[in-house]
Amino acid sequence: MKKIWLFSIIGFGLIATAAIATLITLYFLSDDVEEYVTYVTSTTTETTSFTSTQTTTEKNEDLLDFSTDFSFGAASSSYQIEGAYDVDGKTLNIWDTLTHNMPEKVYNGDTGDVSADSYHKYKDDVKAIKDIGFNFYRFSISWSRILPDGAKTNQAGIDYYNNLINELIANGIEPMVTMYHWDLPQYIQDIGGWTNEVILDYFDHYADVLYDNFGDRVKKWITLNEPYIFCHDGYGTGRHAPAIESKGDGEYLCGHHALLAHVRAYHNYKNKYQATQRGEVGICLYSANFYPSENVHLTLAETALQHMLGWFANPIFSQNGNYPQVMIDNIKRNSENEGRPWSRLPEFTSEQIASLKGSSDFLALNYYTSRLVQPKENYSEEYGWEDDAGIDQSIDPSWPKAKSDFLYSVPEGLHDLLVWIKNKTIIQKC
Ligand SMILES: *[C@@H]1O[C@H](CO)[C@@H](O)[C@H](O)[C@H]1NC(C)=O
Ligand SMILES: *[C@@H]1O[C@H](CO)[C@@H](O)[C@H](O)[C@H]1NC(C)=O
Repeated sequence: MKKIWLFSIIGFGLIATAAIATLITLYFLSDDVEEYVTYVTSTTTETTSFTSTQTTTEKNEDLLDFSTDFSFGAASSSYQIEGAYDVDGKTLNIWDTLTHNMPEKVYNGDTGDVSADSYHKYKDDVKAIKDIGFNFYRFSISWSRILPDGAKTNQAGIDYYNNLINELIANGIEPMVTMYHWDLPQYIQDIGGWTNEVILDYFDHYADVLYDNFGDRVKKWITLNEPYIFCHDGYGTGRHAPAIESKGDGEYLCGHHALLAHVRAYHNYKNKYQATQRGEVGICLYSANFYPSENVHLTLAETALQHMLGWFANPIFSQNGNYPQVMIDNIKRNSENEGRPWSRLPEFTSEQIASLKGSSDFLALNYYTSRLVQPKENYSEEYGWEDDAGIDQSIDPSWPKAKSDFLYSVPEGLHDLLVWIKNKTIIQKC
């Protein structure tokens, strides 16, 4: 493992993020990580164009002081910015369905039907990226625009992304592509989505179509964006699309298939495309950093991190592979307490464990915020992620709150999280 790609929201300011990232970069460079590439991005969780975020106002001469190891860029996701939800052959995805059918789940009842209309205004967006002086643009591809029924490719969708990629390259901006940023085609959700292992075939085909059509120009691929979030909130709490409430079951099934989908897409690239396209394929993981609410609970923060970041990082980046042992043990014990003869956390075969290990050319990390943890006081009747981790989460009152509900500004959490990753030797040399 040679690289960490760091994506961080600018909730606490681009400059603060970049400054911390510089310190961390030096820290990593001084030791066993061979190359540490820091991508600092601005992103917004609202359905507005990235051009209207704080970044423009923070355009600052100081940025020029960063070393050449740094790349600055912008990041978006297809559902957040494209609009054109039913245009040129695109079929519905789970966020179209959620915003249309469950407006109460969305602030203001908003939809992404039009959004920032980047489908039609991508040239303006590329110009904005160039004007700010960014080096790269991370965007995601709308699966149901490329494969409206899972089988045949939609030429209009291919054309749109070809145009976008070509426009970026013509303006000296490197394209970085996320294959899956949460907008699952509805036709896959109709047969169970991420909880049905048939998704492995669908995703493999989708990834292959992307490499085949765009891999001559796209050299940085992210298979999945934040599986913790789209599994925990999509198939656990039901807060996100597809709004399945299946705490402790659906979320772990989703995570299991997400990891297996990632590894197939990774190996397909290595076997079929690496020699000619010479790109990199990795995964983007979310994690908060956790602090014990009182010093007596030191191991609890560790457990929480293993259940959150370790869930997806340990199978890919650790020496032993597989889910973190503490997570396996906790879920098995809780499953037994519920009277189940099996664990709610699916098991990998030894072949799957071996194939997942090292299946990423980099770790892309999304950091936004931190939490305090204390031992869980009251367990829900239906065990969910927090019950399995055994934690209650809270906020330090000294942390400033940002506009989004979940977002408390804890810049030192980014530093401490990276130190934890390094200390856990989750990142191995490959
Ligand atoms: C646990 O349950 C008790 C009794 O209902 C309640 O007073 C307490 O606030 C709960 N604790 C948490 C952390 O929710
Ligand atoms: C990381 O490991 C170093 C060396 O073993 C230790 O001094 C430091 O306290 C550890 N930091 C954390 C946050 O665990």
